[in-house]
Amino acid sequence: MPPPTLDRVHDVPLRRVLSQLVRGGPLGLVEGVGRRAQGAVVRLGLGPFRPLLVTHPDHVRHVLRDRAENYVRGAAMWDALGPLTGRGIAGEGPGWLASRDILRQGMSGGYLQRTGEVIADSVEQAVKELADRALSRPVDAVAEMTRLVHRVINPVFFGCRVSAAQCDRLGEEVTTALGSLLWRMAMPFVPDRVPMPGDRAFLRATRTIDRMLLPVIDRARRQEGDGGADLMSGLLRGRGPDGRPLSDEHVSRDIVALFVAGSESSALTLTWAWAVLARHPAVVAGVRQEADQVLAGGPPRPEHVRKLVFTQQVMAEVMRLYSMAWAVPRVAREDDMVGRVAVPAGTTLVISPYLTHRLAEFWPDPLRFDPGRFDKQAVRERHPLVYLPFGDGVHQCVGQAFFAMESVLVLATVLSRYEVHVSGDPRPRLAVALPPRGRVGLTFAPRSSR
Ligand code: HEM
Repeated sequence: MPPPTLDRVHDVPLRRVLSQLVRGGPLGLVEGVGRRAQGAVVRLGLGPFRPLLVTHPDHVRHVLRDRAENYVRGAAMWDALGPLTGRGIAGEGPGWLASRDILRQGMSGGYLQRTGEVIADSVEQAVKELADRALSRPVDAVAEMTRLVHRVINPVFFGCRVSAAQCDRLGEEVTTALGSLLWRMAMPFVPDRVPMPGDRAFLRATRTIDRMLLPVIDRARRQEGDGGADLMSGLLRGRGPDGRPLSDEHVSRDIVALFVAGSESSALTLTWAWAVLARHPAVVAGVRQEADQVLAGGPPRPEHVRKLVFTQQVMAEVMRLYSMAWAVPRVAREDDMVGRVAVPAGTTLVISPYLTHRLAEFWPDPLRFDPGRFDKQAVRERHPLVYLPFGDGVHQCVGQAFFAMESVLVLATVLSRYEVHVSGDPRPRLAVALPPRGRVGLTFAPRSSR
């Protein structure tokens, strides 16, 4: 069969969707559709819901940059998330803009420079805790990376206002709430008034989160004045579109949105990093050699990040193959054209960094793990929109630089001290992000030689 042309929409009817689902599960369906379409716009026949899948970097640029004002959040995923993450940073319009400006400033390069020491100390402490548990017996990689991520985001999100245990509990409730939304996200045409599986668990988790967060915010507001550099302090100092301080609810929903956006995605990306490295001993040797040179046997420091060039490339390649934001949905406000494909107002479009990162036209031998793809020269020569693990345009991830710092320091710190063994056969499955199908075990051992 010739490859579909970029000029036309490539229709995948419901019966093909179903047969691919049966054969390969949801991820098999997405991968199969992407492979066959090779960058053409795909219309997925999902009964009454017929979203367009957009993967070619020219089309991605059109939707996320050139006509961003026409492609807004509002698709099923955002509607379902609304009661959990609110209409601040997870929304659109003036409420979003107010939160985004505060959070961007809060996570800017200047902030990372000021709080880099805190982040590096948290990484050092979290790696020590992890090693205490993982030395000589396997631990659950996802659970441990989640715990590690919580240790690092706690001071960044909350200052010192919540304990490690509270932060873990909050993360668990957010995960429960997200997991219970899957039915609503998968069947966006079912009205809110019709009960669906997961609704009760979602409500319970949302209430628990409110009970945990609102008193913290209330106390923080009464004690404010310390000019704290953490994101909660920034939101408490911030002003809404009406010039008044953001409400407690707005601040609370934004914090939850930060958890949703930044916790699971970071923990799973780190989990995939270990899984990939276990299959590439030469890459491990490269990261270790660099870590030995840069860390020189000491603890991680913020100024190391810039020198850990190969480790940065490794993380970039992990995020190419395991792009946790596998689907970034938008809704068209007005009629438009994407390339030569007509997009009527109201259409849901799904950008898929996961599929864009696997287009053979731009990524030769796309499934091969090769950090060399992120050499400066190679990056310069590529289409700028063919790599977007953190999205692009006005909604681009505000935590990108923070995650880069955290993940590079984690890899370098662990590999400078330990051998890491990975057990299980990690393959991804499709959920809100891309968790591994079964349990992935991590075991540390002291390094054999230096
Ligand atoms: C591997 C880790 C991460 C990945 C893959 C990731 C990915 C993304 C993507 C694809 C978007 C764009 C969503 C859209 O266009 O609708 C996004 C937005 C966002 N991310 Fe991240 N993210 C990560 C880590 C983080 C962290 C650590 C934080 C918090 C510190 C964070 C906070 C946010 C926020 C607040 C937004 C919304 C920005 C806006 O709408 O203006 N993310 N992220």
